[in-house]
Amino acid sequence: MKIVILGAPASGKGTVAKKISRDFNIPHISIGAMFRENINKKTQLGCQVEQYITTGELVPDNITCDLLKIRLKQKDCENGFILDGFPRNVNQAKFLNEFSAPEVVLLLSITEQESIKRILGRLTCPKCKEIYNLSFYKNSTCKICGTTLEHRVDDNEQTIKKRFDVYQKETKPLIDFYNDKVVEFRGQDDPDSLYDEIKNFLNLNLMM
Ligand code: AP5
Repeated sequence: MKIVILGAPASGKGTVAKKISRDFNIPHISIGAMFRENINKKTQLGCQVEQYITTGELVPDNITCDLLKIRLKQKDCENGFILDGFPRNVNQAKFLNEFSAPEVVLLLSITEQESIKRILGRLTCPKCKEIYNLSFYKNSTCKICGTTLEHRVDDNEQTIKKRFDVYQKETKPLIDFYNDKVVEFRGQDDPDSLYDEIKNFLNLNLMM
């Protein structure tokens, strides 16, 4: 099962992708998370991409596509994957089609207002990567591993607008690019009912 999950910043891609990965036993690949991990560890790649992430720009395609290619060649991707945050533009989508085309593209739709609210309330666990929101979760530590939760470096008012503009300009055209592979879901629904709907769809359409 090869799945791409598409949507505006904070539409819930990571939250849904984690559940699909767990239930369908395919790896969740988040390019953004890989970049952030490299920034935290101060690797050469982290230094190269930090400026793009903190300003909300896309990292150049050559860096991003190389990273994805290495990841998709790993053994755990043999039976499929869920890609969260890749592709981000038509050039990356063409690259993916040549390498390993997705069977379905899940599109999560939310308003800009909801996206901003979620970004400002998001907390993530730096250790196990679990995602929380202050609207639902009032503790300061991760319920899974107990680590102190953090705000992401790019979750601030300065970068939100840029990230949304980049989505509209660069990423939204992928809806036309993928055309009949796209299945749209209401990203503003509550997390459990949204996921039930997606899981039912995948069970009916991709597990036959
Ligand atoms: P990336 O990490 O991909 O960020 P993003 O696309 O902006 O998406 P987010 O991670 O912000 O949100 P999400 O949709 O995963 O939502 P989440 O589940 O966390 O990219 C970051 C940066 O990396 C980019 O700006 C770029 O610089 C670079 N980059 C990444 N990929 C790249 C590429 N391919 N090419 C070039 N550059 C690239 O949920 C958000 C919040 O909402 C959470 O708090 C969550 O608890 C809450 N929530 C989730 N679902 C619901 C719900 N249904 N109802 C209410 N709240 C919910």
